[in-house]
Amino acid sequence: MTEQHSLITALRELQARAESELGAITDLQQLEEWRIRYLGTKGALTMALKDLGTIPKEDRPAAGQTANTAKRTLEAAYDRHLAELRQAALATGLSAEAIDITLPGRRPQLGYSHPVRETLQDIIRIFGSMGFSVAEGPEVEWDRFNFELLNIPEDHPARDTMDTFYVDVPGGIVLRTHTSPVQARVMLSQRPPVRVIAPGRCFRRDQEDASHLSYFWQCEGLAVDRDVTFSDLKGVLASFADQILGCKVRFRPHHFQFTEPSAEFDFSCLVCGGKGCRTCKYEGWLEISGAGMVHPQVLRNMDYDPAVYSGFAFGMGPERITMMRYGISDIRLLNANDMRFLRQFA
Ligand code: DAH
Repeated sequence: MTEQHSLITALRELQARAESELGAITDLQQLEEWRIRYLGTKGALTMALKDLGTIPKEDRPAAGQTANTAKRTLEAAYDRHLAELRQAALATGLSAEAIDITLPGRRPQLGYSHPVRETLQDIIRIFGSMGFSVAEGPEVEWDRFNFELLNIPEDHPARDTMDTFYVDVPGGIVLRTHTSPVQARVMLSQRPPVRVIAPGRCFRRDQEDASHLSYFWQCEGLAVDRDVTFSDLKGVLASFADQILGCKVRFRPHHFQFTEPSAEFDFSCLVCGGKGCRTCKYEGWLEISGAGMVHPQVLRNMDYDPAVYSGFAFGMGPERITMMRYGISDIRLLNANDMRFLRQFA
């Protein structure tokens, strides 16, 4: 066998080996190693091309042609394989990140109001229809508004039933024990006629039990004008009781420092319709809260002349109304934030 033949044969074998190895390559890393092995500056084909100069002149054209064919073929094969691998990588990537648009979406959870909120909304709506607007006051209140202006002097025993959280500063600050201070705020800021309700949160240093919370809602009501009488109070509250729960009202004599005369008012029991049952402790009635005619001293404190103006006021517990409405036996459930309980009102 002559020398030129052996170089040509070697080149052809080299090409065949390179092609068959290339066929088995499945990733870009292997492909790069293959390129360096055959087509790199120190690769097998490059080395073989260098040998061209050492063979006899007459054999060079044939050997050169074989070498060039091998080089072009392998370079083209390399380019094709590279493109194929890139295409495959892209396809795998796309299918891994694919979003299945036929999959049903996850529903966002819809919120809903707390049952006490619902009651407050109803209270606001019903009194709104009777001409009452909504007033607000701060939850952190001056002693003067919470007590003094409402005719509850510093040493008065009425304060004992409303023990609260005091801040010892000049003037005295309390977490308000009731919404009644809003009465004072409204009357000091406007002249009669006054017709407002004031829903809001209140605080007391009370031991919590099935019917007491240390923070709770109240809704105050106040109407001051010429010739306002106790029968106006009865009429307004009777209409309210009927509209909100379909109940009747009853008034019992009571004492509050800021009203004269004062009363407590009850709703007829929804559970037994007034006949007497366990919920109402066989009374047929459930206490809702206090009411009365605004005390002349309170009117004077606001610079309203009691000889000209009179008014009624009331304060009720929205939690109590909510409990009656749904037959809830423990008030603490309303503040516990337990979803198993709250979901029932969705
Ligand atoms: N503020 C009283 C309390 O928390 C409730 C109350 C009674 C409010 C009589 C009134 C009222 O407006 O006239 O116990």
